[in-house]
Formats: sequence, structure tokens, C-alpha cells
Amino acid sequence: MTLNVERLTQNVGAIVSDIDLTTECTDSVITGLKAALDEHSVLVFRDQRFEDDSQTAFSARWGTLETTVYKREGDGGVPVANITNVDFRTNEIFPPDHPRLKSNSGNEMWHTDSSFKPVPSYCSMLSGREVPPVGADTQFASCRAAYDALPKAEQFRLRGLVAEHNYGYSRSLVKGYEAPKETLEEVPPVHHAVVRTNPGNGRKNFYTGSHASHIIGWPVEEGRKLLRELVDKATQPEFVYVHNWQPFDFVIWDNRCVLHRGTPYESAKYRRVMHRTTVAGAGPTVNGAGEALAVA
Ligand code: SIN
Repeated sequence: MTLNVERLTQNVGAIVSDIDLTTECTDSVITGLKAALDEHSVLVFRDQRFEDDSQTAFSARWGTLETTVYKREGDGGVPVANITNVDFRTNEIFPPDHPRLKSNSGNEMWHTDSSFKPVPSYCSMLSGREVPPVGADTQFASCRAAYDALPKAEQFRLRGLVAEHNYGYSRSLVKGYEAPKETLEEVPPVHHAVVRTNPGNGRKNFYTGSHASHIIGWPVEEGRKLLRELVDKATQPEFVYVHNWQPFDFVIWDNRCVLHRGTPYESAKYRRVMHRTTVAGAGPTVNGAGEALAVA
């Protein structure tokens, strides 16, 4: 089967049409989709009528599924993360001051999923089950195109650097939110290479985001400044694809090389129910001595 893949922007994102992912996909379709993800970093599919079981089964074809971190507000330790403003127990929208809404707002910072884990994520898959008519876009930024645009000397300066990624640090940036102690114990700080190389095509990118706290061996503020500057470079309009959700859209993104963030919406007025599965990466990005791996 030939996949119908069309670019959405010059640097990031493609739409794949004429395919139903909820039915059994052959191995060659999965291989083709992985190659398309290596190439385009974000894949968009319209009208995919997933339920949690079929989404889990499809996602598991891509690798080991991560489970969600512990949440005081429910659904920790399962493969499907529910990114929502709706309380599934009552089917009502959460009241405006609910901690779950505060925790969701952490997703409005540019980040890459699970970079706070020792083996960070390969890719995430987000199914739009109920989407607001306005707002709540998801934006994706290519750290590969932004890396390619850096002067060669700057690319060399970044290679070999290692950053600490820390869930506690990123949650401390969310105004009015206090992460549960159990979560912080579950995900202590980890180290990751600042430059990563895609093992399939050899393309390099920098690896940063809201969980990236500082550079190992540098003064904290200096490292933090560099990591923020890299986010600013990647999120320039020419490196960004903005996804405006329609119901049952399904989006897969490559966490190794794109940053993403949710955008605000009227969460007291509109329901938003998004189910995310996250595929674990192939391994750590640093070796046992804490040095950046050349390909990771
Ligand atoms: C996420 O950060 O994984 C979800 C983004 C969104 O809610 O749009």
C-alpha cells in the first residue's frame, strides 16, 4: 500500500489521508508511517474513530507504551492519558479552580513528552475525542529545522552538552500548582544529551523544553538561559505547525525532535477530551558515565 502523505508546512508536519488506523494495519504500513514520522516529525490523520482499546493496540505496534505519572486527580499508571477538562466520574466540566485544570495548563509551556524520564519518549499519539469550536490548538516546533539553521560553530558548541530535565522544575513554573509529592518521588531529575541524532536518517536536532532545567557543569542560570534561547529559536513561526483540531483527528509527533504545547480555550464553557498514548524511546540519551551519546 502506498501512503498518501502531503507536507503541511515547509519544515514540519504532514497529513496522511485515505487510511483508517483503527482497523488492523499491516507491518509495512507501520514501517511506512514510522519512516514518514522520521521525515516530517508530525503526522496528522482525519476522522480516526479510536476508542481506548483500539488506540492502545495501534500505539503498541510502535513500541513499548509508557504509563502516565501518578496524579492525585486520577488516572496515573495507565497507558492512556486523559488530557481533559471533564471529570469522567460526573461527565461535568471541572470547576475553574480544580487542580486538574492547573495541571493541564503545564502543557501550555513548550515541552517534549517524558523528557523527565531516563528513557524519554519516542512519540506521542493524541486522539481528539471532543474538541472546542475555538481555541485549544496544539502547536508543534521543529528543533531539527531550528538546529539546521544555527551557525556551524553554535551547532558544535551544543554537541556533547548534557542537560538536567526535571519534572519538579517544570511544575514549579505552573502558577498556583503544586505537584503531588508522590509524583515527584516517581520522577527524580534525569540527564539528557542536548543534541540528538535520528538513528534512521542521521538528522540532528537540539533537545530542550520546559522540563530542561540547566546544563550539567555550567552555572544554573547560564544553562537555563541557553535552554530557553533554544526554545525561542525553535518556536519561530517558520519552524512551527499549528494544529486546529476537528473531532476524531489523530496526531502523532516525534518527541525526539519536536516541542509542542497546548493553547488556551474557554475551559469553563467548552468540553475538551483528548486521549494520549505515549511510546517509549529506544534507550537513554547518555551513557553510564553521563556523557551524551552520539546517536540517541
Ligand atoms: C500534550 O501536551 O501532550 C497535549 C497538548 C494539548 O493538550 O494540546
